[in-house]
Formats: sequence, structure tokens, C-alpha cells
Amino acid sequence: MDAGISRAEAAELLKKYNREPFHILHGLTVEGVMRWYAKELGYDGDQEFWGLVGLLHDIDFELYPEEHCLKAPELLREAGVSEELIHGVVSHGYGHRVEVRPEHEMEKVLYAADELTGLIWAAAKMRPSKSTRDMEVSSLKKKFKDKKFAAGCSRDIIRAGAEQLGWELDTLLERTILAMRACEDEVGRQMEAYNA
Ligand SMILES: [Fe+2]
Repeated sequence: MDAGISRAEAAELLKKYNREPFHILHGLTVEGVMRWYAKELGYDGDQEFWGLVGLLHDIDFELYPEEHCLKAPELLREAGVSEELIHGVVSHGYGHRVEVRPEHEMEKVLYAADELTGLIWAAAKMRPSKSTRDMEVSSLKKKFKDKKFAAGCSRDIIRAGAEQLGWELDTLLERTILAMRACEDEVGRQMEAYNA
């Protein structure tokens, strides 16, 4: 899979269109989560590509919230990003933003995990450790069922995402906790560098 862009160029591109530290943090987190999934699911050779789709998936959200997933192709094409990567980015808005369906397993993972990382992040913040390090699936499940908790994270999208992958919801929750745990320190380091 060809991204058409290097990791360094992609990081610059994300910064070009995003000023909010939370948006940078979210991009880096989804990148780390996607890299973990690529490895976990046997796509080792495409780890960088999976990561870049994660890093760039919300590229247009800060400046063009009304055109989210619609503006992204233009911004990405201009930067030389491949059509394959653009399809991945756009398809994460399937059903609520666009009618481009996630097809590749990488796209289905992005669709399912994107929204869920928001929920896990919010749940981690509530813990004494402020971390996913000691987070159990059972406690995340309680947060998932509590509709008032992180109400902006759509449970419907997360459920639909698990279904598209053919996974039980618990499997998606468990794997995504592991994925976030695995990249937490690296994302923290990169945010420190970003803030410096
Ligand atoms: Fe996102």
C-alpha cells in the first residue's frame, strides 16, 4: 500500500490544518492504535500506511467541521497523498458524513476504533492513574453503557464498527484498550515535543 507521503510530511500536514492540541493528540493516538492493529491483524508490512491513515483521518475537521470527510480529499490530494489513503480517510465518515463504505480491513478498523479511542481516552482521564495502563474491559463496558458519559462518542458507530469487522463488541473494546496502552507513552512523548 502506497501512502504517497512520508511520516514527516504527514505530521507537518496535520499541523498545517490543526492548531488545537486535542486534535493533534487524537491524530497521534489513532495513528498509534492503527499501527498496533496492523501488526495484530497480520499486516506488518503495511503498519506505516495504517498509521498514516489514522494520523490524517480528521485532517479537515478543525477548519471545515461542516464539510468533514468532504474537504479532506482536496487537502490530501494537494499534498500528494495517494487515492488509497484518501479512500481510507473518507470512509471513516460512512453513514453519517459520506456514503463511501469501509471496504479494506484497515478501513473497518479505523471506522470502529476512531470513535472508541475518544471514549477510552475520556474513561482513562477519570482514573487515578489517568492512564489506560490499568483499565479493565469491564470498567470500560460500564462507561460504554452509561449514555451520559462522554455522550459525544457515538455508541451506535462503535457497535456498527464491531459488526462490520465481524467482532463481538467486547473484542473491539479489549483490543482497542491494548492498542491505546501500547502507544500511550509514545503519544505522550510526541505531544511533549509538539508543546515544546
Ligand atoms: Fe477521529
